[in-house]
Amino acid sequence: MGLFSSKCQCIARLEGKVFVVTGATAGMGKETARDLYWRGGKVIITSRDKKKCMNAIEDIKSKPPSNRSSKQYQGRPGQLIPMMLDLCSLKSIREFVCELTATTPYVNALINCAEVLQSCKEKTQDGFEVHFQTNYLGHFLLTMLLLPRLRKNNSITCRIVNVSSMMHKYGQMNFDDLNGFKLYDPAKAYSQSKLSVLLFTRALERKLRELGLSGVIAYSLNPGLVAEDLRRSLVDAGGQLLFKAARLLVRCCVPLFKTPEQAAQTILHCAIDEEALNHSGCYYEECKPAKPAPQAESDEDAERLFRESLRLCGLPQTDDMDELLDKINVEMTAVAAEMAANQVHSGISSSSN
Ligand SMILES: NC(=O)c1ccc[n+]([C@@H]2O[C@H](COP(=O)([O-])OP(=O)(O)OC[C@H]3O[C@@H](n4cnc5c(N)ncnc54)[C@H](OP(=O)(O)O)[C@@H]3O)[C@@H](O)[C@H]2O)c1
Repeated sequence: MGLFSSKCQCIARLEGKVFVVTGATAGMGKETARDLYWRGGKVIITSRDKKKCMNAIEDIKSKPPSNRSSKQYQGRPGQLIPMMLDLCSLKSIREFVCELTATTPYVNALINCAEVLQSCKEKTQDGFEVHFQTNYLGHFLLTMLLLPRLRKNNSITCRIVNVSSMMHKYGQMNFDDLNGFKLYDPAKAYSQSKLSVLLFTRALERKLRELGLSGVIAYSLNPGLVAEDLRRSLVDAGGQLLFKAARLLVRCCVPLFKTPEQAAQTILHCAIDEEALNHSGCYYEECKPAKPAPQAESDEDAERLFRESLRLCGLPQTDDMDELLDKINVEMTAVAAEMAANQVHSGISSSSN
């Protein structure tokens, strides 16, 4: 499997490094977490479900990456920390960030990998379309809430790794109806959410440079197709035209698809390889910078989506990033106080070595 599958060439050990991985309980998110853990990194495994999270942790601990004898896996494995996070709830994201910043002094990479792909129209508890919130808006909020902490620790490099898909190429931004509720099409909703990930990365990169936050680096990437997962998702996704075409492709081209471990390689490259530090803000495929779809290179759309996302998440709407991060900091202090008063915890247990 995986005729076109580049490998992350980084052989670094990761003792003392901290990684947050959304979507780490399944698929390539779990393989990314496995690799980081066996290199000695501390990995925060997020999930909506305590049991699923603990099962993933057991699996990661019991099975090393397939090339176990390679240099980067020699030594003690790291630490796996389970934490509850539901990207379909803006409240859950705020609580997660409060708890994370209270318990973890710094983060070396935030890997935004969780996703949903489904055929039925669904509103999240915040009233957004489910693909839009899970795949994009939730990760937008998570990243923005972490920025004040990253600004404080600007001497420690933190990489924001936004996992997208080749489906971003079919995406179009429908700013008049970002949720797509008027004429619902799940394929359009999904591809718009994946295009949004690239536009956000573009806007974020520009804002970070304007702010002089040289320690924070953002990437977007397409990890490549995983046959098993894609087939499972497409069965769930039902009969839309784009999905039908993709299903046919999967059946015909199985040898071209990757295993989840192979698909994790570009994510790992962006999260840990020194080489990627030279390509801040880039879109990656096969462990190399690549050209995204033209609609992902629109600065106008990137700015518009950024502003609109601030509004939808209830964040202060200002073009001044310094002011924005100051205000987010104040807001998060209030959320932390409320959580303390109500004794809310998003951690499942303190740690799992
Ligand atoms: N599979 C492919 O062929 C393919 C191709 C191109 C790009 N990608 C991209 O690669 C990434 C990983 O895909 P995958 O197929 O490996 O994923 P997957 O196996 O379907 O796993 C999805 C993950 O997302 C998490 N998740 C779903 N809804 C969530 C929510 N509301 N809040 C928090 N977490 C949520 C799940 O965690 P819990 O259920 O534990 O909460 C699970 O760990 C995605 O960004 C996807 O777009 C995949």
